[in-house]
Amino acid sequence: MTKDRRLEVLSIEPFNAQPPLRELLAAPVTPTPLFFARNHAPIPRLDEASHLLSVDGMVRRPLALRPGDLRANFPAVEITATLQCAGNRRDELIRVRPIPGETPWGPSALSTATWRGTPLAAVLEAAGVLDGAAHVAFLGRDQVEKEGRRFGFGGSIPLERALQHDVLLAWEMNGEALSAEHGFPLRALVPGWIGARSVKWLGEVVVQREPSDNWYQQRAYKVFPTHIDKDSADWASGLMLGELGLTSVIGDPADGQELAAGEVVVRGYAMAGGSRTVERVEVTADHGASWTVAELGEGVAGAWRLWEARLALDHGGHEHALVVILEHERGGVRQRALHRREHTCDVVGREVRVVLLVEAHQLLRSRHHARLRGRGPRYRHE
Ligand code: MTE
Repeated sequence: MTKDRRLEVLSIEPFNAQPPLRELLAAPVTPTPLFFARNHAPIPRLDEASHLLSVDGMVRRPLALRPGDLRANFPAVEITATLQCAGNRRDELIRVRPIPGETPWGPSALSTATWRGTPLAAVLEAAGVLDGAAHVAFLGRDQVEKEGRRFGFGGSIPLERALQHDVLLAWEMNGEALSAEHGFPLRALVPGWIGARSVKWLGEVVVQREPSDNWYQQRAYKVFPTHIDKDSADWASGLMLGELGLTSVIGDPADGQELAAGEVVVRGYAMAGGSRTVERVEVTADHGASWTVAELGEGVAGAWRLWEARLALDHGGHEHALVVILEHERGGVRQRALHRREHTCDVVGREVRVVLLVEAHQLLRSRHHARLRGRGPRYRHE
């Protein structure tokens, strides 16, 4: 597979690339060539015929399965899900405080695909999970070099999450076999969780009592209090990232875009995290005096929703912020709890947490600033 030339390549080796935000927002399912790519090591070129997935640890019957065995002997499921990197929008965090040595991802370190694979639950059932097991660890066949050691990228999810039907051992993406970049011949897919748990080039599934001891579970993707830095971190006390939080991004108009006064079409994406769906998006350009309910694209659990709102910017010369409210459901109950939208970042060994908006009306809100300058009346958005 050749990746799209419009991707912004953030590093060549390892290959890290993100689509331009506007191209990303053009379709609810991202064409595979445009799908963001996040790697920590060179992309391994694996042979499907000889690839073996071992399933062992706290199981009654350890298994060794070829991708073909999964297809032949287990049910196949197709789902549409968004993969979002924990580093999505890190460039906004960096504006608050530098994060040395980390990829400055913009708001398109996420993409959506239709995935086909075997529910992990079906394989775990065949293996027979033993009492006392609480986590399922994944190990990839790539080779990361860290602190003088070479090892596969890995991580784990709680057993409870692993048993939900939408966690897949995926072999197909958008109707085609996975490409090498995206994990051929097999990857884990954990919708609504940080992308790091969707381990590519999957070679091992281990059922265990504790979370994975892989570097990417124990020393990365952790959150610390603000005063802690990389050197003072007690790694055991960091909170492991897992389920993604609520987020929304305005992609159009872009920051700094010149606009004429009048009607403006505002477009973006919203993502609820977990297996939740964003239910409503509202946008204001007048500090909340009036709100426009956005039209939402299709919504399925674990996937983003694209949205579009038409606003009339008819009084120029003022400062405006474009603000987005999100409402979503959790456990069948509409959320009206006070919500702070937070950013976290991965691998830094300290928390960078930016509270963008604590909202007053007990709706979930998220905020994006756009700087709009018009020909004619001017709109400046802080
Ligand atoms: N799996 C392996 N084996 N190696 C990796 O470097 N990167 C993870 C995850 N799985 C990674 C991996 C991260 S951080 C993310 S965000 C997603 O893969 C990105 O998946 P993609 O490259 O298919 O978009």
